[in-house]
Amino acid sequence: MEKEKIILDVDTGTDDAVAIIMAMLCQDFDLLGITTVNGNVELKLTTDNTLRVVDYCGMGDKVKVVQGCDLPLVSTLLPWTPQSTGIMTAYTKNDIRCIPRREGMRTGAEMHGDHLPLPETTLKPIEKSAVIWLVETLLEAEDHSITLIPVGPLTNIAVAMRADPRITKKIKRIVLMGGGYLVNSRTPAAEFNIWADPEAAEIVLQSGCDITFVPLDATHSAYITTEQAEKIRAIGTKEAEFVASTILGRIKGYVNRDRDMSQYDGAPIHDALAVCAVLHPEVLTEVIECNCHVDISGGYAYGQTILDRRELKNGEPKNCKFALKADREMFFEWMENILKNSADK
Ligand code: RIB
Ligand code: CA
Repeated sequence: MEKEKIILDVDTGTDDAVAIIMAMLCQDFDLLGITTVNGNVELKLTTDNTLRVVDYCGMGDKVKVVQGCDLPLVSTLLPWTPQSTGIMTAYTKNDIRCIPRREGMRTGAEMHGDHLPLPETTLKPIEKSAVIWLVETLLEAEDHSITLIPVGPLTNIAVAMRADPRITKKIKRIVLMGGGYLVNSRTPAAEFNIWADPEAAEIVLQSGCDITFVPLDATHSAYITTEQAEKIRAIGTKEAEFVASTILGRIKGYVNRDRDMSQYDGAPIHDALAVCAVLHPEVLTEVIECNCHVDISGGYAYGQTILDRRELKNGEPKNCKFALKADREMFFEWMENILKNSADK
């Protein structure tokens, strides 16, 4: 069976790191490259973290890392947005975590420290902007042949689309981690990846590409537990050890913060679920097709993924698939098998 050609776009962070390891170890992928973007932490850190993961898995000579945009399109410029004022919306008046301009948007700091707990690396990103590399790589490809898996803010993808719209014809699918319907995170209305660059997300949504959202509704339903993390640790490889300790660290962060996850003794591993869904769409168990827009008005719902679920005869065309649930066991078994198979090599 031909391998799935993929490009990962990451803001590495902890769950991005697990997603990268799955994408590198899974034999069904042809990983053309990993592009990095500002998000969980600042660009220089998301890039360094990505390089550390690639090096730690001994893939430095196989996997390209390409550095992308260090700021969202406009949200840090618009005078009324939390990204520029540093003040969160009224919903979270007491949450005035300022958002430094040229620095990461800082999701829960406890979830993503600056550097991943991995050895420093001498690996470097290739000497080219991720936007240019994306355009060049896609234009060289066959039509509809490359699957993009963005698991951070969509800045790189949006800028590449604006730079050369011809790339949309080269994209087979976009399977992105982002958005939320009944589950949100960064604000009561918005999930972090979309909220960090709402205008970029809207550009991607209007691209006409085949888009599947793997939102918080799905990733939270596919949480991984402490018990499952220990099963991964028992595989005994250094990759399994890192994945297990990363999951346990995320569980600690979520259990402190989130009532649901504390009762499950688990945590969502958002980005890895998006990678799984590329090969196993059946892991997404409740998927709706709808028209989705991102609120870019800059108010309380800034960055919200607004799903039009009305069945209007003359409604806007449906522009995405949006997963509301996922199969937790299938997701875990997929990760466990990849790590076990790589252990047997
Ligand atoms: O909301 C979850 C997303 O925000 C994940 O991609 C996580 O890595 C952060 O980027
Ligand atoms: Ca991410």
